[in-house]
Amino acid sequence: MENFIFQNPTKLVFGKGQIARLSELIPAGVHLMITYGGGSVTKNGVYEQVQDALKGRQYVEFWGIEPNPHVETLRKAIELGKEKNIDFLLAVGGGSVLDGTKLVAAGICSDTDAWDIVLSGYAQKQIPFASVMTVPATGSEMNGGAVITRRETDEKYAFGGDYPQFSILDPEVTYSLSKHQIACGLVDAYTHVLEQYLTTPGQSRIMDRWAEGILLSVKEISLKIIENQHNYDLMADYMLAATLALNDFIRMGITQDWTTHMIGHELTALHGLTHGHTLAIVMPGTMRVLKEQKKAKLLQYGERIFNITEGSENERIEKAIDATETFFRSLGLTTRLSENGIGDETIETIAKRFNDRGVAFGENQNVTGDVAREILVSRK
Ligand code: NZQ
Ligand code: ZN
Repeated sequence: MENFIFQNPTKLVFGKGQIARLSELIPAGVHLMITYGGGSVTKNGVYEQVQDALKGRQYVEFWGIEPNPHVETLRKAIELGKEKNIDFLLAVGGGSVLDGTKLVAAGICSDTDAWDIVLSGYAQKQIPFASVMTVPATGSEMNGGAVITRRETDEKYAFGGDYPQFSILDPEVTYSLSKHQIACGLVDAYTHVLEQYLTTPGQSRIMDRWAEGILLSVKEISLKIIENQHNYDLMADYMLAATLALNDFIRMGITQDWTTHMIGHELTALHGLTHGHTLAIVMPGTMRVLKEQKKAKLLQYGERIFNITEGSENERIEKAIDATETFFRSLGLTTRLSENGIGDETIETIAKRFNDRGVAFGENQNVTGDVAREILVSRK
């Protein structure tokens, strides 16, 4: 195990009716701005609950943070925040609203352009922010990451920074999600675990078992959720699984991959595919093209998650990869580029972008543009 420092300061406030706690959670006397997406909160009662909880308090609202939040929109929120002397932000929505808000939190206390903050990779300073999370998927509610899109150039990059002060997770708010959003959220959470698990073998039994616990739980609840998303206990497990999959708990002292995410972000930036859907397409390719370096972990994964114990090593690995793709498809997602009208031109664009940037992703820092091409070609 490598040395590590672990600190996750986010207060999780979990359960039914917990949005009512907003007033006690947001410090008194702050200049508050609440950020929203495109209006889903007005249809599922979340907006009303926020309004009720904050009755009698002054605040500014900013609407219109879109899925895969655009820096062009967030600049407007930064401007408004500066104008109103905002010193506390509350994001009410999915990962996109919260990610966008993380950038707004940085932009408000900086003179640097918002896109340059993203490109720098890390926000040096942010005003405090918190969330009411309405989509279980990204883990943004309890991590320091954010992913921002620049529409002008169809680029999508992540940056790091502070964690939310608190996040309210009420599983009941997920009842209004579409089947596609749920499928994408489940795949996102599952893939977050794989990005931290399918790497170097023998680093930590604790991290392995913790990761496998989340994978097994997501697998167990997924099909039941797709059939009945109004079951509170199922949605509670889903919501908590998504948080635990990307809140630093399962990556203490271990190497990480993130190849699938980096390629997935390009597919979203270029074609607008939902984040989790891109992962369902790319992940089987990452497993297959990198199966030599991931061999030990793929065997362990196959055995512990899918009970694959028969056959040669290569056969067992292939079965594990097929089982993963079958699982994603069982949620109603397509898993091939051709099924989404994506062809060679996009593959070449992504390979060129990675090569031009000189990237080397993955636990062994060997995923260049050429390797990304191989991964994508295997997903045609
Ligand atoms: O905008 P509104 O009207 O609110 O509608 C949203 C949006 O259209 C809707 N929605 C949200 N909550 C709902 C709801 N619809 C019905 N009922 C509800 N309860 O859902 C749509 C999608 O929302 P979005 O926030 O985009 O989804 P998600 O939470 O999956 O976030 C995806 C973004 O997060 C990034 C992704 O790249 C993508 O940009 N990620 C962030 C990460 C992080 N911060 O750590 C890690 C992830 O790997 C991921 O990259
Ligand atoms: Zn993700």
